[in-house]
Amino acid sequence: MVNAQQHVRAWDAEAQAYDEPADHGLLDPAARAAWRSLLLGLLPPPPARVADLGCGTGTLSVLLAEEGFDVVGVDFAPEMLRRAVAKGAGTPGVQLVRGDAAVPPLERATYDVVLCRHVLWALPDQPAVIGRWVDLLRPDGRLVLVEGSWSTGAGLTAQQTLELVRATGRLAILTPLDDEAYWGRATGDERYVVVS
Ligand SMILES: C[S@@+](CC[C@H](N)C(=O)[O-])C[C@H]1O[C@@H](n2cnc3c(N)ncnc32)[C@H](O)[C@@H]1O
Repeated sequence: MVNAQQHVRAWDAEAQAYDEPADHGLLDPAARAAWRSLLLGLLPPPPARVADLGCGTGTLSVLLAEEGFDVVGVDFAPEMLRRAVAKGAGTPGVQLVRGDAAVPPLERATYDVVLCRHVLWALPDQPAVIGRWVDLLRPDGRLVLVEGSWSTGAGLTAQQTLELVRATGRLAILTPLDDEAYWGRATGDERYVVVS
């Protein structure tokens, strides 16, 4: 069985090349513009408090801080976090902390948005995790989950993610992310965002 420390080491090993795919580092202006436009359409207007759980190299955390959001990014992998801190240097409104996204070291009921891209699928006990994420939200807060069921066989189907969120008693709305602008290439698998 893989323990938590092995997971951390595995993600640390990914950090150096993590930003290379178009959707990871958003280094291509078209991909960056596509994600900016998507997120600004889904989130409440800034300034709003965003928890970006499993923030990786901080791409979305910093993008949102640049738009005026007050963002806390959480990741357990020191090498990912180191890159996130470097990326966020000089950008006001972004804080990056080491911690477990499954049990976020954040104050309950103080966030307008809990954002998580491509992390939920890999966490154990997803119903409990979703419950803790909902607890972070203010009464009118939003959960924004970007996930996929990828051609590799990994991931969560949209139906699985919808059911996880609806089991908390919340409404959940699915938006497919089929447009290749998000990924820098055509994709044939299931990619989506669920907002609740
Ligand atoms: C696929 S990357 C996604 C990064 C970022 N959300 C993005 O969209 O670019 C997954 C990230 O989640 C982090 N991660 C995975 N499990 C975690 C956990 N239990 N607690 C904190 N971070 C975790 C990894 O270290 C990695 O940075």
